[in-house]
Amino acid sequence: MGDLVINAAPNLQTAWKRGCEFLGTKYAILGGAMSWVSERNLVAAISNAGGFGVIACGAMTPDLLETEIKATQELTNKPFGVNLITMHPDLDKLIDVCLSLNVSHVVLAGGVPTKETILKIKEGGAKTVCFTPTFALGKKLIRTGADALVIEGMEAGGHIGPVSTSVLAQEILPNITDVPVFVAGGIGRGEAIATYLRMGASGCQLGTRFVCAHESIAHPDFKKAFMRANARDAVTTVQVDPMFPVIPVRALNNEGGKKFIETQHEVIAKYRAGEMDLETAQLAIEHFWAGALRRAVIDGDVEYGSVMAGQSVGMVKKEQSIEEIMEELVSQARESFENYGDQRDGS
Ligand SMILES: Cc1cc2nc3c(=O)[nH]c(=O)nc-3n(C[C@H](O)[C@H](O)[C@H](O)COP(=O)(O)O)c2cc1C
Repeated sequence: MGDLVINAAPNLQTAWKRGCEFLGTKYAILGGAMSWVSERNLVAAISNAGGFGVIACGAMTPDLLETEIKATQELTNKPFGVNLITMHPDLDKLIDVCLSLNVSHVVLAGGVPTKETILKIKEGGAKTVCFTPTFALGKKLIRTGADALVIEGMEAGGHIGPVSTSVLAQEILPNITDVPVFVAGGIGRGEAIATYLRMGASGCQLGTRFVCAHESIAHPDFKKAFMRANARDAVTTVQVDPMFPVIPVRALNNEGGKKFIETQHEVIAKYRAGEMDLETAQLAIEHFWAGALRRAVIDGDVEYGSVMAGQSVGMVKKEQSIEEIMEELVSQARESFENYGDQRDGS
């Protein structure tokens, strides 16, 4: 195991130099892709403000993705990435679209990417960024060709793993130094960014903090739900029976969450009574949330839709411009380095 504090940089600029160089940005802050939220406006605003915006491809078709990338390129000449879900049936075509439009970075999410996928992107001239939930998989992804890693803890909004950001950071940052590692999950202020940089991160990825930006197209009610919420309101989906696994997602607690628990009980009761076979029952549970994020983000149904949000939602109290949010984060991180230097000097 490596030593924990491996970045003894005297200031923020030096501390995230590697991340900035990798991303081609002024600040090593990624705006994590958020389905329905991370479209042209938010992505371009983040990149224009010195960060790295990432388009959420989600379930888009190759044609729709092409339109979105071109529209983003109209709004910014700064680098941005595209997040692709590895189980998308048209993954290869989506990669072709990214490469043909000279997208510089492809972020692969939603499962472990194959070697072929990573090589296709690299051979096409783009950089690959992969998520890793463990040290061992991180090492494997690097051997396979990943150019950078994101470690995302369970404080994050959306689909999550079981381990917290702070534990992942301690386990992985000292031990993976061959490629830049970006930390995500639960980051709401710049001091936290500075802390992860000091622990060896090359930068950080934030999602929740950017949702209520003026430039975000999220429905006003979606934004209001964020601004009203506290950290404890961003909860994980409840699974009532281990025989019927549920994908863990962090979202604001609402009527939809309660209805999901009721639905699981009803479906499982039908299965136990012999009125439904196992596969149909599992599908009925899985399909409950289909289209629910869109309903919340675009239509504003924050009662029954899926209001995906991380625990840092408690730090989102008003609508701000992306530039304001970015400057706040950066000045907090910068000051943290300045104060830390004072403490080390004993002054
Ligand atoms: C509304 C919402 C939608 C998200 N959708 C995606 C997605 O489509 N793909 C993905 O890789 N991550 C997705 N995420 C995760 C973000 O990219 C980011 O990693 C996460 O928000 C970071 O944690 P934070 O919310 O604590 O800042 C989503 C997060 C939120 C809040």
